Amino acid sequence: MKPYVAVDHVDVIFDTKNGPFQALANVSASIAKGEFVSIIGHSGCGKSTVLNLIAGLLDPTTGCVLLEDREIKGPGPERAVVFQNHSLLPWLTVFGNVYLAVERVFGVNETKPALAERTDKAIEMVGLSHARDKRPNEISGGMKQRVGIARALAMEPKVLLMDEPFGALDALTRAHLQDELMRITGDLGSTVLMVTHDVDEAVLLSDRIIMMTNGPAATVGEILDVKLPRPRNRLVLAEDARYVHLRGEVLRFLYEKHMHPAVSVARVACNGTRYSPGTPATPQDSAALHPAQ
Ligand SMILES: Nc1ncnc2c1ncn2[C@@H]1O[C@H](COP(=O)(O)OP(=O)(O)OP(=O)(O)O)[C@@H](O)[C@H]1O
Ligand SMILES: [Mg+2]
Repeated sequence: MKPYVAVDHVDVIFDTKNGPFQALANVSASIAKGEFVSIIGHSGCGKSTVLNLIAGLLDPTTGCVLLEDREIKGPGPERAVVFQNHSLLPWLTVFGNVYLAVERVFGVNETKPALAERTDKAIEMVGLSHARDKRPNEISGGMKQRVGIARALAMEPKVLLMDEPFGALDALTRAHLQDELMRITGDLGSTVLMVTHDVDEAVLLSDRIIMMTNGPAATVGEILDVKLPRPRNRLVLAEDARYVHLRGEVLRFLYEKHMHPAVSVARVACNGTRYSPGTPATPQDSAALHPAQ
């Protein structure tokens, strides 16, 4: 597999008021063209840091990050980012928010009608044509997130980077958007890196899952190949032995091999007994994965 994006022996050390803090140690990973890769790991392990390196929002302390064999230096429109909090401009409509990004990327070479057509096409792709002229405060959280995805897709990026894009959404909306994302990125043959806390989301959407160890000095623990045929249907997969096995592999990595310290402390404090490996994921585990929510 020829790497399209490569993170090559990267360390990231932040300067903090308490001295240097090593977030990442010797992280190496790659994404092939057209591949959908997820990063999963406990909170604070360094998932966003890896994504920010590829986005060009952060430089590695050592090692390098490459796109098509060229070192990534700073952000660029060929790497569009979708954040969890959708970051839309409140005074612009859905159309205006997407148009702004389209104009930035294609404005030099294309006419205004062509830019508007690109914008409308992207809005249609995420099923928001009916809300084209609404402002962010007039639409739901799921719709705002779709605008963020439309904006990123409209830029026709070489790589789509998503940091917990559905983390703030309710389960039904999340499932719906996951299905749409699968369809759209499948149709476009997009290269995607997605950070997620959600085991099912990772298995359902990904070709490979990068599982990170806990920080500090976090690194890639294991990489799981998800060789489930596409298109994928969540209802069919729920009963599929291969899906269940892959899901179990991710859970085992997270809860047996790399249990978050907060979980073991909480378990000992609450029960007076230690966590026994193999226990299925519980809401408490989920809370430890999402401490901010
Ligand atoms: N600018 C910074 N300065 C100092 N420390 C930082 C900085 N950015 C991140 N960190 C630390 O680096 C570690 C990794 O952070 P990161 O945001 O990548 O984690 P994460 O896996 O994305 O977590 P979450 O799942 O909660 O979003 C954390 O310990 C965090 O506190
Ligand atoms: Mg993060």
